[in-house]
Amino acid sequence: MPLSVEIKKVTIADIDTLLNLSRKTFFDAFAHLNNAADMESYAANAFIKQRFEEELRNPGSEFYFALFEGNIAGYIKLNYNTAQTELQDPAALEIERIYILNEYQGKQIGKQLIDFAIDTAISQKLSYVWLGVWEHNTKAISFYKNKGFEQFGSHPFMLGSDEQTDIMMKLAL
Ligand SMILES: CC(C)(COP(=O)(O)OP(=O)(O)OC[C@H]1O[C@@H](n2cnc3c(N)ncnc32)[C@H](O)[C@@H]1OP(=O)(O)O)[C@@H](O)C(=O)NCCC(=O)NCCS
Repeated sequence: MPLSVEIKKVTIADIDTLLNLSRKTFFDAFAHLNNAADMESYAANAFIKQRFEEELRNPGSEFYFALFEGNIAGYIKLNYNTAQTELQDPAALEIERIYILNEYQGKQIGKQLIDFAIDTAISQKLSYVWLGVWEHNTKAISFYKNKGFEQFGSHPFMLGSDEQTDIMMKLAL
């Protein structure tokens, strides 16, 4: 029986909490696997207030917190239409980010967030959900495969000066 998780839409009033959580979870997940200068260079552009303000105000993007026992355990970012980082297919939903804090991983919180995204896409009669994931992020790839996602392509991703490969995965609905 999965533990109960509350999923709450993030608003502009939550910007500092979202920014701190996004930065922390990104560094926790990837700092030990990458060059520190590349991490900082990416973060200096990605995790800044102005960028988050734009993302939160974009009508095609939605962020949601996962709350476990009242505490923020993670978040997900969904993109529709032209807010998608690629494809920009109106029939698709992109999961651009899904991150659970280390101490909350393995409690089926990520699963509940991804189920929420899939249910949202189904209720909007979309055809598929897709995402990009670093080829070396084997844990996340297993997690997505477990949910039925399959690889359909790949694309380059710049982490600072390091050109990496993201695998693109999709789940047909
Ligand atoms: C990937 C991530 C979102 C998964 O969330 P989570 O809450 O830890 O995962 P859950 O506990 O919900 O696991 C859900 C299912 O996936 C499976 N799963 C999770 N991690 C797995 C792994 N490493 N290998 C195989 N299966 C895995 C679980 O067994 C579970 O399956 P079940 O429902 O059959 O029991 C989370 O670990 C995370 O935030 N990682 C760091 C950031 C990251 O890599 N984000 C993705 C960037 S693209």
